[in-house]
Amino acid sequence: MILWIAELLRGLNFFGLSYLEWVGLLVTLIALGYYLPLYLYDVYIVLIAPALKRGLNLRKMGKWAVVTGATDGIGKAYAEEIARLGINIVLISRSQQKLATVSNEIENTFGVITRTIAVDFTEGVTVYDKIERELQGLEIGILVNNVGIWYPYVDYFTDLPYARKHSQDMIYCNVIPVTFLTHLVLPQMVGRRRGVIINVGGLTGAIPVPFISMYSATKVFVERFSESLAMEYKRQGITIQVVLPGYVATKMARVSKPSVMTPSPTLYVQKALKTVGIEDRTAVYIPHRLALKGFEWGYLFFKTITGGIMYERYSTMREISKRRREAKFRRITIQEEQPLTEL
Ligand SMILES: NC(=O)c1ccc[n+]([C@@H]2O[C@H](COP(=O)([O-])OP(=O)(O)OC[C@H]3O[C@@H](n4cnc5c(N)ncnc54)[C@H](OP(=O)(O)O)[C@@H]3O)[C@@H](O)[C@H]2O)c1
Repeated sequence: MILWIAELLRGLNFFGLSYLEWVGLLVTLIALGYYLPLYLYDVYIVLIAPALKRGLNLRKMGKWAVVTGATDGIGKAYAEEIARLGINIVLISRSQQKLATVSNEIENTFGVITRTIAVDFTEGVTVYDKIERELQGLEIGILVNNVGIWYPYVDYFTDLPYARKHSQDMIYCNVIPVTFLTHLVLPQMVGRRRGVIINVGGLTGAIPVPFISMYSATKVFVERFSESLAMEYKRQGITIQVVLPGYVATKMARVSKPSVMTPSPTLYVQKALKTVGIEDRTAVYIPHRLALKGFEWGYLFFKTITGGIMYERYSTMREISKRRREAKFRRITIQEEQPLTEL
């Protein structure tokens, strides 16, 4: 029947093209008309606009920048790259010793002034009084909400050690600082009608990810909060950006050597800063951008398959970390038993 209809339609001719050829042509034109401008816009955003320095001039935002989780990884790279622009930095992190080291490095290398605030965000909402006191009187043009924690290892939610405490810590580190510090600095930015807030989310917030459900959920919060706030404050001159990194070679990712898929924090942040003012939501680095598109399209069109792939991937990760833990435990037990066997 279908073949018969197709044969019949093929027989119909308009302006030298068969009916089916017209349908094919129309579909192609619609697809091109819809997707081509999107692709061209992507090319402009990803390659041309940063090369033409269409991003914001961060130097004009204010004298100071505040960076959380500034003693390592992505946060340290943000602190360094912003200091390179001649902007003074407030470094916020856990260990005063590490803060002092990074602060000296930055002052000596970039000739800017730094201040340090040692707080442990897992202590909860009490730490913000101290931060507020320390930030008093500073003209803050940039806030980088970077601090975030991961897992001791990947496992079923209920099998994680101290799962409730760890979930609480994750909310205190990955969610509350973004909210409270934004609330702290936004009024003065709005008053000056300029300012930039950069929130570090993650690719794992783009779609649901089993075995790291709390982390994935905190990153969804960061993303949705940032995008909503960006719309809310755009007309008041404030730029709010959420960056969604994939793997970056840091302690958290347990990767020491950068590779094509896993850039160094410095490379990642250098690229990220060029996108401020151009993109409000970005994965920054081309391999991570492709991964983000893959995740989103996969989840939109093939939800079950994509969910299955994520399950397999993270379940394998869980197996590997379990084997490593068991091997480590065996090594420790053997070492402890050594004196007995020598007897
Ligand atoms: N690396 C990746 O592959 C990746 C991928 C996607 C998203 N991200 C996100 O990027 C952000 C930075 O990650 P990263 O890989 O750069 O992490 P990192 O190398 O582990 O550095 C974390 C920073 O946060 C500080 N910090 C940790 N716990 C803290 C606490 N309780 N209170 C105060 N400061 C604390 C650390 O200070 P101490 O040195 O004193 O511990 C350090 O300065 C996070 O939000 C993470 O979720 C990372």
